[in-house]
Amino acid sequence: MATTSPERRVTLEEITALAKRRGFVFQSSEIYGGLAGFWDFGPLGAVLKRNIKNAWWHDTVELRDDVVAFDSSIVMHPSTWEASGHVAAFHDVMVDCRVCKHRFRYDHLKDTSRCPDCGSKNSFTEPRNFNLMLKTSVGPMEDTSALAYLRPETAQGIFVNFKNVYQAARKRPPFGIAQIGKAFRNEITPGNLIFRVREFEQAELEYFVPEDGKDMEAFHEWVERRKTWYASYGISSERLRFYELKPEERPHYAKAGIDVEYEFPWGWGELESIAHRGTYDLDAHMRISGKDLRFFDEETKTHQTPLLIESSAGMDRTMLTVLVDAYDREQVVDQNGKPADRTVLRFHPKLSPVQAAVFSLARNKPDLVERARNIERALRPHFRTQYDEGNIGALYRRQDEIGTPFCITVDYETLDDASVTVRDRDSMRQDRIGEAHLRNYLEERT
Ligand code: GAP
Repeated sequence: MATTSPERRVTLEEITALAKRRGFVFQSSEIYGGLAGFWDFGPLGAVLKRNIKNAWWHDTVELRDDVVAFDSSIVMHPSTWEASGHVAAFHDVMVDCRVCKHRFRYDHLKDTSRCPDCGSKNSFTEPRNFNLMLKTSVGPMEDTSALAYLRPETAQGIFVNFKNVYQAARKRPPFGIAQIGKAFRNEITPGNLIFRVREFEQAELEYFVPEDGKDMEAFHEWVERRKTWYASYGISSERLRFYELKPEERPHYAKAGIDVEYEFPWGWGELESIAHRGTYDLDAHMRISGKDLRFFDEETKTHQTPLLIESSAGMDRTMLTVLVDAYDREQVVDQNGKPADRTVLRFHPKLSPVQAAVFSLARNKPDLVERARNIERALRPHFRTQYDEGNIGALYRRQDEIGTPFCITVDYETLDDASVTVRDRDSMRQDRIGEAHLRNYLEERT
């Protein structure tokens, strides 16, 4: 039975420890000491992230007939990044401490006179620009002609293909192009687990609208859709805000901008940016490539450059949000009537890496084990399932910690009357259900 516990926010240390212990997130190349800003996703993390991406994809692409799918290459022609402005202007201002040699983002320093790492006073170099694009070289020569970049955003792949896509898909604005893919930024100070990293995934929707005066309407519609999306996966509305950028905070070409922010253990942080980018991107690519990317508007019989509404969500940051938001610790009374702490991830059942765990009450009873394994096997094509056996209290604790909404236990009664116990993660209520009804029971609740 759960008792009320005062609400306490999870710390970053607790989330980091749980993420590692249960196999959500590991430091990349950990056995070599790791590489700052790079992470690997363990068995549960890989599934959680995939579920989040699938949820975005399903709701943004599959459920809409005005959005088409896209998947562009990570390395693009270097001129792309000249046109987009990334070569000239995609930088942060950094300083180095001359004493400890550590490097900092200037705008992240609370005190610019003293190094936060070694405490030295007036030890910083002059602030200077640092371009965030990761460089690589393409082909057998490693001279400047081979210079290329790992894309810092997926969006440009969509812009340069705008004409290819609308012609092939037989679409005219208003319509959108969506893609999920890796992006790379050589962040000066990566940190906060998977919040600020150097390799991450973006889910970007580029929605093209004609210049018919309804563009701001389209912008607000996408903002509302994104609000609904976060709410539909249970992200708490008190910890999510849609911050409207003031004109001086927006890039000069943007007509409107909203940052979606979540209140993380260290404060508010951006998960997604929604922007009205006007014709800026297509104009830039037309200018540098000399190619016409306009479409022919049948109504006005003119060639038009569409306006662009962009929703750009970071999948790693969304995953961190889902983890932090789901985390709960409460005092419960255990089977022996003693108070105990319970850590539980209250994931939305659609996102849970495991949706139903099936247990055999005893390890050494072949009848029970076989029955439980058969039930798990029968549910597997329909849900994400896991089989386990042993001490039920310990099994519940483990499944609570990985956010499994339903635990099914096969016991001696099962052998007599084909019923099982289904325990609900959140209420900890236990129902006795006929085996034959399990699938329906879970379908209704996941
Ligand atoms: N195409 C628009 C664009 O890329 P952005 O605000 O620079 O806009 C969009 O990035 C989202 O990508 C951010 O809201 C964030 O979720 C994610 N993102 C950006 N840099 C990141 C980083 N270093 N680590 C993790 N996610 C990042």
